[in-house]
Amino acid sequence: EERNVSSGHGKIILLGEHAVVYGRHAIATPIPLAIQAHVQRGGDGVELIIPRWGVEQRLHRSAEKQHAYEKSLAIIFKTLGLERESMRLEIFPNVPRAMGLGGSAAIAVATIRALDRCFELGLDDERVNELAFECEKIAHGTPSGIDNTLSTYGQTMLFRSGESPLRKVIEIDQAVQLVVGISGVESLTAATVSRVRKAREAHPELYETIFNQIDSLVIEGVDALVGHKLETLGELMNICHGLLNAMQVSSWELEEMIQIARRHGALGAKLTGGGGGGSIIALCPPEPGAADRIESGIREAGYQTIQVTMGGKPKNR
Ligand code: PMV
Repeated sequence: EERNVSSGHGKIILLGEHAVVYGRHAIATPIPLAIQAHVQRGGDGVELIIPRWGVEQRLHRSAEKQHAYEKSLAIIFKTLGLERESMRLEIFPNVPRAMGLGGSAAIAVATIRALDRCFELGLDDERVNELAFECEKIAHGTPSGIDNTLSTYGQTMLFRSGESPLRKVIEIDQAVQLVVGISGVESLTAATVSRVRKAREAHPELYETIFNQIDSLVIEGVDALVGHKLETLGELMNICHGLLNAMQVSSWELEEMIQIARRHGALGAKLTGGGGGGSIIALCPPEPGAADRIESGIREAGYQTIQVTMGGKPKNR
């Protein structure tokens, strides 16, 4: 590939989704190069091409006609002062959309980087991240910022937003293997986030207790991850899923994949991201063939899967 493409990473939340919206910690790891984008100047207006999704259109200028991704593209053009430029923008997604894998943030990051390269804007990662966060607000309402941060920096991180924000890279020497099971049911993150918000308003003490429990298992999870204590990490993931279940953000398909993963030897399995639909992750035991076995179990039930390795080698940026 001679062509200059720019990338945004996808992400998997290992532990801490939903609680992270309320200032607790979360651990997330990248899905490398989930989205690639390329911009070429010229033509008339903005020609948007997403071959995998069958999109080949001129970008709508009027807001009410726009899909979420078009709205966020419009914000990017406006913020970067590129509204009058004509170009051909091609986007190549390597992760399915709306599956809780951070695809929307990765589209924003890849596009911003492609525009930066084409128009020589000199944006640093911090600026890319900020702008992608603006886009995430359009897609989600009240995002924690974990998706755009992972998408920009592409490293396993301990993350916290709010008054005392934290972004700490977690160094993982020994590779850890995950299988992602993709339900195929669109996850409406904004919907599950707002259901949790309402439930918390109705039962503040119960929900604060759940968030605190999630927070402490995230902190334990960092030690387990760094120390390669996979059985402990798996147990923490299982408990975390139980708490997510208590918040009622799971679904039939997610539960099925989690049971299959555990039956096929996963050390732990839980939903990842917003839930409602979307994806699960399963932690594989270190023996050879374990990931393939879990993967084929999930696939036999009719779901898509991908394998993701955490740590062990430097991540491609
Ligand atoms: O569904 P995703 O991949 O956008 O993940 C959402 C994670 C939440 O914690 C539920 C929301 C957030 O903004 O952090």
